[in-house]
Amino acid sequence: MFFSIALDGPSGAGKSTLARALAASLSFIYMDTGALYRTVGYLAFLNHIPPTDAPAVTAALSSARVEIRFLDGSQHAFLNDTDVSDEIRLPEMSRYASLVSVIPEVRTLLLKPQRDFAASHNVIMDGRDIGTVVLPDATVKIFLTASPEERAARRFLELQQRGTPQPYESVLADILERDARDSTRAVAPLKKAPDAITVDTTGLTFEQSYQKLYTIIQQKLAPLQ
Ligand code: DC
Repeated sequence: MFFSIALDGPSGAGKSTLARALAASLSFIYMDTGALYRTVGYLAFLNHIPPTDAPAVTAALSSARVEIRFLDGSQHAFLNDTDVSDEIRLPEMSRYASLVSVIPEVRTLLLKPQRDFAASHNVIMDGRDIGTVVLPDATVKIFLTASPEERAARRFLELQQRGTPQPYESVLADILERDARDSTRAVAPLKKAPDAITVDTTGLTFEQSYQKLYTIIQQKLAPLQ
């Protein structure tokens, strides 16, 4: 039997940093499911398909191979056997990913690879709909959140460190726009699962957030091991 930890929440709540650290200490595999949507966004971008053109995006995805592969324990995104891990992190791909993720057929096509992976590994998966749709029977469900201003400030620093700085106001506007789209879409919106535990990381350091999550996870896993 495999254990799964669903870590959902809005952009910039700290999901990926925390999930990576937790996976390392628990010896679980960390899967960042946003990378799948980013790869589909990149597929649209490469083919000059507007990310809002649902039939065209669906057709392109149906004849493409979008995969996550683990190389030396770290996740890489592949599009038709090409490693596109760097390209999907371009700031514009955040918007593309959010737009293509609204398309129901895209979500359906990406469901199986996510479920198959969780069925054969101990996994901590971060996303928006992991606890509600992808893994409704996840062993642990956490909904991670933080105020939009704090998430924008973190993203602003991250972009600066990556050498692709953007003004704080535009980062905040982007976060608010994505929050609204991710939470109001018809299919699998960003929503806390009824049985998920909410952790608000506003004002918490990484270490404090990590400890909170680690304690929640251990309390759930310990009796099962
Ligand atoms: O986590 P991220 O910022 O890389 O995700 C990019 C977009 O993908 C995000 O705006 C919403 C979408 N997404 C989703 O709809 N469902 C997921 N499980 C993960 C991401």
